Amino acid sequence: MISCPNVEKRVIRNHYNVSTLFYRLLWGRHIHHGLWNADEPPEQAAQQLTERVADEVGIPEGGRVVDIGCGMGGSSIHLAQRHHCHVTGVTISPFQQKWATLASWKAGVRRQTQFVCQDAEALQLEPGTFDVAWSIECTEHLFNKPEFFRRMATWLKPGGRVAICAWLSGDEPLDETGRQMVYDVCEGFFCPSLGTMADYEAWFRDAGLSMIRTFDWTDQVSKTWEICEQRIRKTGMHSVAKVVDRGQLIFLDRFRTLLDAYNTGAMKYGCFIAEKT
Ligand SMILES: C[S@@+](CC[C@H](N)C(=O)[O-])C[C@H]1O[C@@H](n2cnc3c(N)ncnc32)[C@H](O)[C@@H]1O
Repeated sequence: MISCPNVEKRVIRNHYNVSTLFYRLLWGRHIHHGLWNADEPPEQAAQQLTERVADEVGIPEGGRVVDIGCGMGGSSIHLAQRHHCHVTGVTISPFQQKWATLASWKAGVRRQTQFVCQDAEALQLEPGTFDVAWSIECTEHLFNKPEFFRRMATWLKPGGRVAICAWLSGDEPLDETGRQMVYDVCEGFFCPSLGTMADYEAWFRDAGLSMIRTFDWTDQVSKTWEICEQRIRKTGMHSVAKVVDRGQLIFLDRFRTLLDAYNTGAMKYGCFIAEKT
């Protein structure tokens, strides 16, 4: 695992309050990578990632799902619509909570969804009540990941499943350049640490969750950052960012680093499907 001790939780919250609009313009309603099979448009690729994770974990019709780090509600709304399930979305950003709530009204699934603004690391949910714990690209922002995994496991019913997608530090040992790249990504995207694939596997195991499948999707997702770079250049978003809050938008300068990290193996993109036995 590679850590970046400068990251603070209050800064992560501000980042998502300030930047959600930028993400919406850059990526659409999902704040996560696209998963490409061929040359699909980026919005379709992002939707494909959500659908692929849903297929892999298996969402029971009408079941209960907790979506940790729900962003603008992209996954929660999709799961409620497609699988008729009840979803509790959790975000650290009050702005995102309001956005997701409005989006669910618009999408006609308000009754099946609730969005709460809470820190997932302090979140209290009734034990044994969820069929699926779902988290796409949020665990990177958590400070005590092993403890979060243990708490998440308690929210699941026996036989309940977990689906997590995460940016990963590449397999150890990394050379100095690789470690620096991962550190720069952590700093630029407000991640207190990035775990390796092996770290995640151990956290699942220690929480009493049995791994069903793991995927390394690095090659299928890395195009995301080429497209982000092009869009930033085309739209002049850098100039807009200057008048907003430069410190909050440092990530706009780190797209190339991420791409290099993926291309050199310093970083990976993983998906984990596990079960509470
Ligand atoms: C990269 S976005 C992913 C959003 C969403 N999963 C998606 O795929 O569209 C990361 C999300 O994690 C949330 N987040 C970060 N730290 C959190 C924390 N400690 N507790 C709850 N949510 C958190 C952010 O508010 C944001 O919604």
